[in-house]
Amino acid sequence: MTSWSFSFSVCLSSLLILYFFTASTVAQVPANATFKIINEGEFGDYITEYDAGYRVISNDFFAFPFSLCFYNTTPGEFILGMRAGLPRDEDLMRWVWDANRNHPVKENATLSFGRDGNLVLADVDGTVAWQTNTANKGVTGIKLLPNGNLVLYDKRGKFIWQSFDHPVDTLLVGMSVKKNGRLVSRTSEADGRDGKYSLVLDNSGFSLYLNNSGQLVNYNGWQGSAYSSVRFNTTPIDEDPKSAGWELLLQTFEDSKSPPTPSPTPSGRRLLQSFPVGSANTVILRKVNYNATLSFLRLQSDGNVKVFTYFDKVPYLRWSETFAFFSSYYVRECGLPSKCGSFGLCQMGMCVACPSPNGLLGWSEDCQPPKLKPCPAKAKVDYYKIAAAEHFLNRESTGDGEGPIKVEACRDKCSKDCRCKGFIYKEDTKKCLLVPVLGTFIRDVNTSTAYVKYSL
Ligand SMILES: *[C@@H]1O[C@H](CO)[C@@H](O)[C@H](O)[C@H]1NC(C)=O
Ligand SMILES: *[C@@H]1O[C@H](CO)[C@@H](O)[C@H](O)[C@H]1NC(C)=O
Ligand SMILES: *[C@@H]1O[C@H](CO)[C@@H](O)[C@H](O)[C@H]1NC(C)=O
Ligand SMILES: *[C@@H]1O[C@H](CO)[C@@H](O)[C@H](O)[C@H]1NC(C)=O
Ligand SMILES: *[C@@H]1O[C@H](CO)[C@@H](O)[C@H](O)[C@H]1NC(C)=O
Repeated sequence: MTSWSFSFSVCLSSLLILYFFTASTVAQVPANATFKIINEGEFGDYITEYDAGYRVISNDFFAFPFSLCFYNTTPGEFILGMRAGLPRDEDLMRWVWDANRNHPVKENATLSFGRDGNLVLADVDGTVAWQTNTANKGVTGIKLLPNGNLVLYDKRGKFIWQSFDHPVDTLLVGMSVKKNGRLVSRTSEADGRDGKYSLVLDNSGFSLYLNNSGQLVNYNGWQGSAYSSVRFNTTPIDEDPKSAGWELLLQTFEDSKSPPTPSPTPSGRRLLQSFPVGSANTVILRKVNYNATLSFLRLQSDGNVKVFTYFDKVPYLRWSETFAFFSSYYVRECGLPSKCGSFGLCQMGMCVACPSPNGLLGWSEDCQPPKLKPCPAKAKVDYYKIAAAEHFLNRESTGDGEGPIKVEACRDKCSKDCRCKGFIYKEDTKKCLLVPVLGTFIRDVNTSTAYVKYSL
C-alpha cells in the first residue's frame, strides 16, 4: 500500500467513524416537532403591561397562565417574550421574560426550531437576533412548563436549555440568580432595553446597584456573603394553607468552596430582614392569605423591587402587588433613589420640596439638581444646605462615611473630587459622606445636614 492510499483510507474511515458517531449519538428533533413561525398578522385585543401590542405565537406554547408571544412597545420593534395572565382576567397581562430585549426584531422576523435543536430568532433580513445555541446538543423537543419555564429537552427529558437559567428583570417562583448573575431593569415602561438598575448576587449579598454613567453605586439590597445562589420561592406556612397562608421568600444557598467572611452587620444577621427569619437560609418577604404559587419578583425600571401574585379566584384584577422593597412595610419609601425623580426632598414617603439655593421650594417633576460646569475646571464651587436631610447612601449597614472630621474638611474633599455632587455631614458623629449622585434626599434626624454642590 502506498502512503497516499494509506492516508486516504485512514481519512475515509475516520470520516465514516465521525459520520456514524454523529448519527448514532446526537439525537435530532423529529421532523413533525420542528417549526418556523413568522411574526405577522393581527394583534391581540387586550391591554398588557407597558401598553404593548402582542401576537400570541401558537397554542403549543401555552401553560396556564403563561404564553409565548411577540410583543412591542415601539412600532416595528418586537420582543419574543412570555406573557403571564389571560385576556379574561380584566387586568394587565404581565411580561415576565424576554429573549431579545436589546435586539428587537421587525415585522416578518422568524422564530424557528430546526432538526438540529437550535431555537433561533432571526430578523426579516436573516440576522440572528437571539438563539439558544443548542444546535446538535441532543435536543429532541421544546415545551413551556406550567411554572413558566420554557425548556429544550433531550430524549431522556433532561433540560439542555431553560429560560429559568436566563433571567432578565423578573424571577418567577423557583427561578434563581446565581453568583455574579443579575437582574437588570428596563430603561422605562416604554423602553425595554437594559436600564440603569441591577440586582446582583455578589460578595456583599443580593445587592441593588445604580449605574451612574458607568460608576456602579450600591443603593440597597440584602446583605450577606458567600452565597452561590438566591432563589425566589413561596411555600404554604403549614399543612393547611387555607388557614395559615403562604410566605413569599428568598432562599439562599451557601457557596461551600468559599470561606465564610465576617458578617457586615454587628448583630451577625445575614440578609437584611425586617420580618421573622424562617430559618438561617430564608428571608421572608411577605405573608399572603392565598396560594402564591403564581408570583414573580421584579426589578422595576424605577429601581424598586416588587412582587406580584396572581389569584384566579377573583373575578377581576387578578394580579396584586404583594411585596415592595421600598414601601411602608419594608425599607422606607424615601430610600428609593428615584422616588423624587432626579432631585427632591422626601418625607414620610412623599416628595415635599425642591431644595434650591434660596431654600425649599415646592416639589414638582421639574425639580433638578444644580448644573455643574465641566470638571475639572478652575471655576469655583459652593454649596447650599438642606437642613435635617439624609441621603439614600446613609444606611446603617454602610455607615455615614468617614470621620470624625470637621465640616470644612468634608467640604474640601468634595470640592477636590469631580465625581462628588454633594455631601452629608452628621453633626453629632462628625461623619462625612460624599455622594456621587443626588436623587432623593430624606428628611430625617436634625443632626444631619446635606450640602449640594453648585458652580459659581
Ligand atoms: C410526531 O411523529 C411521531 C412518530 O411518527 C408521533 O409519535 C408523534 O405523536 C408526532 N407528534 C406530533 C406532534 O404530531
Ligand atoms: C411581510 O411579508 C408579507 C408576505 O411576504 C408581505 O406581504 C408584507 O408586506 C411583509 N411585511 C413587511 C412589513 O415587510
Ligand atoms: C453602565 O452604563 C454605561 C452607559 O452609561 C454602559 O456603557 C455600561 O455598560 C453600564 N454598565 C453596567 C455594568 O451596566
Ligand atoms: C397552588 O396553586 C398552584 C398553581 O395554580 C397549584 O398547582 C397548587 O395545587 C395549589 N396548591 C394548593 C395547596 O392549593
Ligand atoms: C433637634 O431636635 C431636638 C429634639 O427635637 C432639639 O432638642 C434640638 O434643639 C434640635 N436641634 C437642632 C439643631 O435643630
